[in-house]
Amino acid sequence: MNIVLLGPPGAGKGTQGARIADRLAVPHISTGDLFRAMRRDNTALAVQIRSYMDRGMYVPDEITVQMVENRLMKEDARRGWILDGFPRTHAQAIALQDMLQRRRSRVDIAFHISAPTGVLLDRLAGRLVCSGCTAIYHVISKPPRREMVCDQCGDALQRRSDEDPEIVRQRLAVYAAQTEPIIDFYRAIGCLVEINGSLPLEVVERQVDEAVLSRVAISTVG
Ligand code: AP5
Repeated sequence: MNIVLLGPPGAGKGTQGARIADRLAVPHISTGDLFRAMRRDNTALAVQIRSYMDRGMYVPDEITVQMVENRLMKEDARRGWILDGFPRTHAQAIALQDMLQRRRSRVDIAFHISAPTGVLLDRLAGRLVCSGCTAIYHVISKPPRREMVCDQCGDALQRRSDEDPEIVRQRLAVYAAQTEPIIDFYRAIGCLVEINGSLPLEVVERQVDEAVLSRVAISTVG
């Protein structure tokens, strides 16, 4: 199954993406995580990526599309994938459609996880991320068992460098201008599923699981 996760910063894409990838045994491909790994390199490309991320701007489409295309060619993505944070622009959505048409494949579900701005700001203010395995926590809604230590791998938890309030405001504005319009693109294709991401974690999980299960049932019957 091929799933795309759309939604503003802090809506819960990473949280749901990691969980459903685990359940479906397909890779969770987060472009944000891929860029955070690449930006540590000592290369001209890393300097360029840092300059965009640190300003809350999108990395240019040419770099992003090439990175995703390379990742989708890996063996583990042959049986399906969860794309978290891609596509984010109209050009990226078209590039993904082209890639999939060449493989006679398609997006099965595009989840649009939404939440009001106040909820997003609270979520981002309390988020902790594992420096090793990238697992996501929240100081109130999903605290780690040991303070600032990852339950899954034992590495240190940290805050993300793009969570300064100014940068968050910029990320929200860029999302509204460049990514919101592509929600209609997936609605027109007929694979959009709206999720109310402001509900408690277990309720959001149930909504997502029900949509995935109903799609599995349809493809089994079909
Ligand atoms: P990226 O890392 O993708 O950031 P983002 O889209 O801004 O989203 P976040 O990761 O901040 O939020 P999320 O929706 O995953 O929420 P989470 O699950 O963590 O991208 C970062 C940067 O990379 C971009 O700004 C850009 O520069 C670049 N980039 C990435 N992709 C790109 C692309 N395609 N093109 C160009 N540039 C790109 O949850 C947030 C918190 O809330 C957590 O603490 C979690 O525990 C908690 N939480 C989640 N759900 C619930 C719930 N239901 N109830 C209570 N708490 C919850």
